Amino acid sequence: MTGTRRPLHQRDLERMNLPNRFWESRLSGIQDEKAREVIRRYLLDGRYMHGEGLFLHGKYGVGKSSAAAVILMEMRRRGYSGLWVEAAEFVDKMMQREMFDLDSSWSSRAREVDVLVLDDMGTEHHDAGGAIERMMEGVVRSRIQRKRIVILTTNISPDRLGPHEESGVKVEGVYRRKFLEVIREALYPICVQGSSLRRDTERKIADEYR
Ligand SMILES: Nc1ncnc2c1ncn2[C@@H]1O[C@H](COP(=O)(O)OP(=O)(O)O)[C@@H](O)[C@H]1O
Ligand SMILES: [Mg+2]
Repeated sequence: MTGTRRPLHQRDLERMNLPNRFWESRLSGIQDEKAREVIRRYLLDGRYMHGEGLFLHGKYGVGKSSAAAVILMEMRRRGYSGLWVEAAEFVDKMMQREMFDLDSSWSSRAREVDVLVLDDMGTEHHDAGGAIERMMEGVVRSRIQRKRIVILTTNISPDRLGPHEESGVKVEGVYRRKFLEVIREALYPICVQGSSLRRDTERKIADEYR
């Protein structure tokens, strides 16, 4: 990787709210070769400098969050500010702010940092009126408009995220078409493939303790 880089300190990782389990994630540890090369190129060719974000999708345990962590840490080394937030946590915090106007520094960071990772989209709570989704859409959209990098990860396949049909039956999906269009237009999709690394890890741990 090129460009000026500075060392990454523990306080950077903590400030970015990056969960401890991803601190050791490395580009070379991304198992899906194709995804790894796309990410390597993304970091090399400077597309992120123009605000282009990523949409990482794939099954549970294939390494999407680790890949997002690798990107976030690399950007931090290059001097970008970053914030990691799980979608469920994001919604909880936004709701708190809506109701009690607490933690507004947190929510302004989500809007203003150079790189925002929204991890595990689709697992968060949704209200019937769609207020939560609109809030989330608002943050993502405003970031995209201002060319602030957004990196999303999800286990839900792109064709099931929005309204779709399953065996001839109409299903709502998690997000509205409008939100998905914003994502589709602005974020570069990367499908992370492979078998679940978590299961392997869990099996390995189980073996070690046998
Ligand atoms: N780049 C990587 N570097 C190190 N470990 C990784 C990497 N990618 C995946 N792993 C391992 O695989 C596990 C599952 O990866 P994770 O990113 O949590 O998957 P997903 O987000 O797709 O469910 C992690 O806990 C970690 O042990
Ligand atoms: Mg994950």
